[in-house]
Amino acid sequence: MNVMQLAARKVSRRLVRDFGEVENLQVSRKGPGDFVTAADVRTDEKLRDALQQARPNFGFLTEEGKDIVGQDETRRWIIDPIDGTMNFMHGTPVFSISIALEEAGEVTAGLVYAPVSDEMFWAEKGQGAYLNDRRLRVATRRHMGDTVIGTGMPHMGSPDTTGYLAELGAVMAECGGIRCLGAASLDLAYVAAGRFDGFWDTGLAPWDIAAGLLLAREAGATVSRTDGGGNPLYAGDVLVANEAIHSRMLRLIRHSRRAE
Ligand code: IPD
Ligand code: CA
Ligand code: CA
Repeated sequence: MNVMQLAARKVSRRLVRDFGEVENLQVSRKGPGDFVTAADVRTDEKLRDALQQARPNFGFLTEEGKDIVGQDETRRWIIDPIDGTMNFMHGTPVFSISIALEEAGEVTAGLVYAPVSDEMFWAEKGQGAYLNDRRLRVATRRHMGDTVIGTGMPHMGSPDTTGYLAELGAVMAECGGIRCLGAASLDLAYVAAGRFDGFWDTGLAPWDIAAGLLLAREAGATVSRTDGGGNPLYAGDVLVANEAIHSRMLRLIRHSRRAE
């Protein structure tokens, strides 16, 4: 965890400077697109360098770089250098660096670092989840009407918008509020921190959720796929909440799918 946090903090200094530059580029004719892509790739490379220096034998699964099998084939880092790229590109300070360590197919450590707010969410398997130094627990609300639920919305090119709208309609009708941060890693960290009472989304990549799923689990959340099935890491569809809210959301999502 020390190695992971040092790497995240090291690359975040430049990333925050880049984020400042995006504001200037918003108003330029060319726009910030290429600049952000370059920042994304550079952050990925710098994270890999820092982690490789500390643990030369581990492999990598990262969004912007090639998959690398390490000398130690049982361990690899799963990295999203910027989760929330659309926010970053639009000057909205809601984005994170997400790093997870997978050992023998299981995520054993993860962090989600939001550099602008300097919030370090981190967890180690069996050791609990933390925000900076503070232990995290999922919210204990049991009534849907009291809840704030996070979700990821489909956008241009997403499959099955109709199916998603049916799910959204069903959850919306019962909960206190819906939020969409635009960064799945932070959505999951917010569930761990009790800021959100639940979160569901589909079509996610392992680097979006590897660290966040561990955070949610270690904070006491029930974690499943949106059909109630097992580990969502490589399936990419996620339903996370405390036990009571999870069971209600699962029923709502199942019914909305059946009603389609
Ligand atoms: C995206 C974010 C978003 C989720 C998308 C992801 P990116 O990651 O996590 O919340 O809904 O599916 O692709 O592109 O910003 O790294
Ligand atoms: Ca992502
Ligand atoms: Ca990304």
